[in-house]
Amino acid sequence: MTPREFFIEDRLEKYRLEAECNLGESGFRNFTLGYVCDFLGISFDDLKTISLADSPNQGREELRKEIAKLYEGITNEEVLVTTGTSEALFLFFSLILSPNDVVRYLSPAFQALYEIPLTLGAKLEPVLVKSNEILVDELFQNKAKLIIINHPHNPTGATLSEKEILKLKKILSSWDEYVLFDEHYRFLDYEKELGFSGAGLGKKIFATGSITKSFGVTGLRIGWLVGNKELLKKARSFKDYLTHTVNPISEFLALKLLQNREKFLKPIRENLQQNLKVFLDIIPKLSSIQNFTPPKGGLVSFLKLKEGFSSREYADELYKNTGVFVLPGADFESEGFIRVGLGETHERFRTGLLKWIEWDSKILNTNKY
Ligand SMILES: Cc1ncc(COP(=O)(O)O)c(C=O)c1O
Repeated sequence: MTPREFFIEDRLEKYRLEAECNLGESGFRNFTLGYVCDFLGISFDDLKTISLADSPNQGREELRKEIAKLYEGITNEEVLVTTGTSEALFLFFSLILSPNDVVRYLSPAFQALYEIPLTLGAKLEPVLVKSNEILVDELFQNKAKLIIINHPHNPTGATLSEKEILKLKKILSSWDEYVLFDEHYRFLDYEKELGFSGAGLGKKIFATGSITKSFGVTGLRIGWLVGNKELLKKARSFKDYLTHTVNPISEFLALKLLQNREKFLKPIRENLQQNLKVFLDIIPKLSSIQNFTPPKGGLVSFLKLKEGFSSREYADELYKNTGVFVLPGADFESEGFIRVGLGETHERFRTGLLKWIEWDSKILNTNKY
């Protein structure tokens, strides 16, 4: 079986570069190489020293060591560097899933999290995220070959509460099936960096992660898979048939970014806080939005549209009339919602939201788009 089309991609491909206000992206707006180098004090002479030979298949050791430090009880041998989180997910699913295996996951979801398991013949059991709450009891209601916890959650911005984390740790201490934490947005919490990761809590517990979206460097395409050595060895070997190794220039920059992450993430967090403030001020005033729960982590929020609105038409008309680009819930197989990213520059974000509210008042008066 082949995967269906990746629903969000066509629209992203069409508008991501041209949109005046890009709220369709799930990542922080991308920086230039010049910005990253200046910020981190990397000179052209430093870049000239990078060998263009293949990196080690498992990933450069220094980078694996830096990634391992993000987790408790994980060594650099338990880290595989991949081309984006996407490759890590593909390798992991392919290695553990067989036809009819039950996969439980939070819904709505980033499509790869359920589409690849579906392609491998798995039986999907979505657990709906309601009011931005991730309820551990629902996820672990009964056995499943794999439970996927995308945390912070895309597209709702939900995070696990302290109470749910405690419950989760207790359940995981005796859980004997696979659990995958997709922690793609782990670096972005609206209060502090998320300390919690599921990796290292058991032999069948794995995590995927990345710097792409949180650091505004999507083009570097660096991600990772973390967990038990035996499975990682198989994943490394499988990767040899795919991308084999990652780009050494990307690895070099990813290492520098992780080594300096507190410093680098500071202005990103400040920008997001500013955007969130405007977002919380304007979104409740939009008559076309029925309700929403503020995001607690990551870079996105899922807004419920007023009854009767088609999310694709809404996104099209909003873009046509204001230059504000959002993703329709229909592309997440959740009609009646739109996903809004918070990663734009503050000026473009604020201007975009002001145009949105003006358009919203016009469609309210005419009662059509
Ligand atoms: C939850 C989640 N997991 C995985 C990915 C894929 O990540 P990457 O772009 O690093 O391949 C994304 C991308 O948006 C995502 O949102």
